[in-house]
Amino acid sequence: MKILPGDLSPSKTIDRMIRVDHAGEYGAARIYEGQLSVLKNSSSAPLLEHMRAQEQAHLDTFDNLIRARRVRPTVLSPVWHVAGYVLGALSARLGEKSAMACTVAVEEVIDEHYARQSKELDNFPHEEELQKIIRQFREDEQRHRELGIEHGAADAPAFKVMKTMIKMASKTAIWFSTRI
Ligand SMILES: [Fe+2]
Ligand SMILES: [Fe+2]
Repeated sequence: MKILPGDLSPSKTIDRMIRVDHAGEYGAARIYEGQLSVLKNSSSAPLLEHMRAQEQAHLDTFDNLIRARRVRPTVLSPVWHVAGYVLGALSARLGEKSAMACTVAVEEVIDEHYARQSKELDNFPHEEELQKIIRQFREDEQRHRELGIEHGAADAPAFKVMKTMIKMASKTAIWFSTRI
């Protein structure tokens, strides 16, 4: 791999990946926690709990990686702690379908994000383990998106507007969590 001037060193690139993924999985777990706080007695609860548990497993994996590799976590964790939960709770307050619409929006962004990382990791053959993790998690996130659609996301009021806004917010969160 050729390193161009202004490019990050390979180890910095990997550190950034782990930092942002750790932050993303943290935010995702908080979104489902926020949704469950509102919808814990609804028919969507088992599905939300299933997705929350998977996000927690993803988070645990990146927690271990961040520790094992001594990667600095994002300083924005307290922000994502609140923002994720609020996004989850607000979307759930709008109804079960809106909660699903939130899932579709967030998971679309995460899917694209993991796809990009996976492609970049092709340049790092010794990062086979990380590549495997990201491919596996990407499949899980794609499944979450499908579940959202199967459970009526597209029928949520103002689905398109909501999706656009949440996707923009998620991309902004990724941008910041990669860097600080
Ligand atoms: Fe996840
Ligand atoms: Fe997910």
